[in-house]
Amino acid sequence: MLDKDMFDTPCYVIDESVLKHNLEILKGVQERTGAKILLAQKAFSCYHLYPMIGQYLCGTACSGLFEAKLGYEEMGKENHVFSAAYRKNEIDEIIGYCGHIIFNSFSQLDKYRDKVLSAGKKIGLRINPEHSTQEGHEIYDPCSPRSRLGITLANFRKNDLRGVSGLHFHTLCEQNSDDLEATLEAVEEKFGDILGDMEWINLGGGHHITREDYDIPRLEKCIKHLQEKYGLEVFLEPGEAIALNAGYLVTEVLDITKNDMPIAILDTSAACHMPDVLEMPYRPPLFDSGLPDEKKFTYRLGSQTCLAGDSIGEYSFDSPLSIGDRLVFGDMAIYSMVKNNTFNGMPLPSIYLLKEDGSAQLLRSFGYDDFKCRL
Ligand SMILES: Cc1ncc(COP(=O)(O)O)c(C=O)c1O
Repeated sequence: MLDKDMFDTPCYVIDESVLKHNLEILKGVQERTGAKILLAQKAFSCYHLYPMIGQYLCGTACSGLFEAKLGYEEMGKENHVFSAAYRKNEIDEIIGYCGHIIFNSFSQLDKYRDKVLSAGKKIGLRINPEHSTQEGHEIYDPCSPRSRLGITLANFRKNDLRGVSGLHFHTLCEQNSDDLEATLEAVEEKFGDILGDMEWINLGGGHHITREDYDIPRLEKCIKHLQEKYGLEVFLEPGEAIALNAGYLVTEVLDITKNDMPIAILDTSAACHMPDVLEMPYRPPLFDSGLPDEKKFTYRLGSQTCLAGDSIGEYSFDSPLSIGDRLVFGDMAIYSMVKNNTFNGMPLPSIYLLKEDGSAQLLRSFGYDDFKCRL
């Protein structure tokens, strides 16, 4: 367990051992199946770790120009990009950085097809299999009604695929391989007749491969099915699975107040440092704590900001909290640093690497200029 007093707060701490453990699992999938796994940078872009991640994975997946450039510069392996639409003034640079360019519509394909082909790069189309496997999280469901993500069968021109060598879909979010299997059935039902004409398929992200209950053999069966039946090269681009549980957020209790229950004010913020807590919403794990009233002393954990709802949740402890105590939230490597903001002028947390030998290395710290320079 990390020594929470060795850091300045607030800070993220990336746990190298957990990251490597996850990467070993993913490497095993690659080795057993021949599938290629890419880091979806949208979840984790801490590029200081890219050289190490690149020793295990085949490359990076990008959402646009800046991630494309980062993946190219810092990992320099396969680089695939998908965006709902590309700007005219970015596309040439993107093509320079990426080997696979994935379009979200036939109008984008028409606009940029010849440019991509003449650069010798590969073209993919994102399809929407219209098969939801998640409930209650419409914001994370690309198959929800009226979704803008992926081309539906009714809008897909199967006779207009000149230069298109691959298909991409991304429909899952923190899901197991039974949902992938069900999604693949929908993909085959709608697009099976053109799969044999493709060279590759990208199964997107949302595969929680490194979670303990994830059914890896079932995933491998899905991959092998695509390889054997259609001769496809298979890519996956998980984000969460790569850095799942591989980071912490260390924060300090600044004050203890009371309304109708005890409240602890922390030097971190859900809105600024863990926005998924409010957006998703979810309750982040907190070490040495329990559910409300599970342990003797329950507190509402809140932030310094003005936002009334900037609360992380209610947690209980064996002993009362004191000003100056350190608290450690878990699973804070993914969708955290990449989503930070400085609302209220909140400082950005420093980023540390907790190395395998137990020592800590400060990767980045931030100050007033990081707030000011964006305004
Ligand atoms: C196109 C695409 N690929 C990959 C991912 C990564 O998903 P996850 O981090 O859930 O594995 C996402 C997440 O939104 C995505 O939109």
